[in-house]
Amino acid sequence: MGSVDHTTTNIEAEKKKITVIFVLGGPGSGKGTQCANIVENFGYTHLSAGDLLRAEIKSGSENGTMIQNMIKEGKIVPAEVTIRLLQKAIQESGHEKFLIDGFPRNEENRASFESITGIMPEIVLFFDCSEEEMEKRLLNRNQGREDDNIETIRKRFNVYMESSLPVIQYYDTLGKVRRIDAAKPVDAVFEDVKVIFEKVAEIAA
Ligand code: ADP
Ligand code: C5P
Ligand code: MG
Repeated sequence: MGSVDHTTTNIEAEKKKITVIFVLGGPGSGKGTQCANIVENFGYTHLSAGDLLRAEIKSGSENGTMIQNMIKEGKIVPAEVTIRLLQKAIQESGHEKFLIDGFPRNEENRASFESITGIMPEIVLFFDCSEEEMEKRLLNRNQGREDDNIETIRKRFNVYMESSLPVIQYYDTLGKVRRIDAAKPVDAVFEDVKVIFEKVAEIAA
């Protein structure tokens, strides 16, 4: 009789249960704002990669200074660091349905997450907004963020165009992208988001 490897089977079972929706879009497109609405109405757990990285800086971790410097320059932190934080948050939550906001931000984020976790997103929500509008929102955000200044904002827009948009295009070729016109007022954007989540709920039922 062959013995059963419970560790492996349990991990496989855990993996199967987890549903992930990636929430992407430029800096200031309204990802965090809409994720809060989705959590209230559709019972997802919101994980913002940027929030997890900022918490890691505050915790005094050995990676803190490196993360702080990357954020100040609008650069993307090595995938291994961000994925470890996401995995920890997923495990600690004990939940099954996640909105992962602001990740994957580049090809390295995407490919590493896929190979490390084996998780493919159910859908990718894409908040599409002009740079002009995003710039206005970021300069008015007033959350005391070190990267919400015009110099860093310009760098973040460049990184978004060069590294993040190709990831959205990749998921589009897989038919996973649900584009939202994020330039509308908050409530109008959420009306469009709701239609998408109602469809996801129907398919899952
Ligand atoms: P992101 O997480 O994509 O960077 P946020 O959700 O933090 O964006 O939104 C950036 C700023 O813009 C916040 O001050 C927020 O209140 C505001 N905001 C979000 N959505 C809209 C919207 N649809 N119209 C106008 N302002 C918005
Ligand atoms: O999504 P948010 O605007 O909070 O991200 C802020 C910064 O955090 C990014 O500009 C980037 O420096 C860093 N970040 C990252 N990798 C991610 C998400 C955010 O390096 N996947
Ligand atoms: Mg955000």
